[in-house]
Amino acid sequence: MDEKQRSVIAKAESFARAVMMDDSSGHDYEHVIRVRRMAEKILMHERADAYVVILSALLHDVDDKKLGGPGDRAERFLRDQNVDETIRNAVLGILATMSYSAQAAGAATPSIEGKIVQDADRLDAIGAIGVARAFAYGGKKGRPIYAGSNDDDSSLSHFHQKLLKLKDLMNTKTAKRIAGKRHRFLLGYLKQFMAEWDGK
Ligand code: ADP
Ligand code: NI
Repeated sequence: MDEKQRSVIAKAESFARAVMMDDSSGHDYEHVIRVRRMAEKILMHERADAYVVILSALLHDVDDKKLGGPGDRAERFLRDQNVDETIRNAVLGILATMSYSAQAAGAATPSIEGKIVQDADRLDAIGAIGVARAFAYGGKKGRPIYAGSNDDDSSLSHFHQKLLKLKDLMNTKTAKRIAGKRHRFLLGYLKQFMAEWDGK
């Protein structure tokens, strides 16, 4: 990576930190740091453009609907930094197609760079941190932790509606391996939760 790219990355870090600092719905800046770190780990085993991966990881949630905002923060940031059009389009393409909802709505398959960031983001929704994020999100929305059903809007239902499905949606070999471990943790967690629910 050249000096200009390193400087844009440093600016993207401060930009994402400023946008996400006060969020408590699971989109805090620490989530972004974890996604970036995990994306870099996956990147070591893939042939992909590191600059696009890191920029996309840092910017991946700045336009998330849950944060409100104008919806074009990433685009404005990339234009303000005079990032080349090719890179800008690669990053914006990833941000538009990587989410679970975009994929469910039939968005195009992301590039290899997009697949890496998508895997890193999804890995952060499972395992011990994923459990914490689900209950933090549910708490923020005033939802019950569990209400006796796997099919309502409780936080525990979210495990069944989404989190348990993520393991099979991983793109890369590295993410599949890590997801297997985190998925087993989720299953163990749910088993213990239900045992306690039943008074055991
Ligand atoms: P990201 O785009 O960072 O993967 P989401 O916007 O889907 O994440 O959600 C952020 C966090 O909040 C994730 O950990 C996710 O599991 C959790 N979350 C999202 N929707 C719900 C929900 N309905 N109930 C509980 N947790 C949720
Ligand atoms: Ni995210």
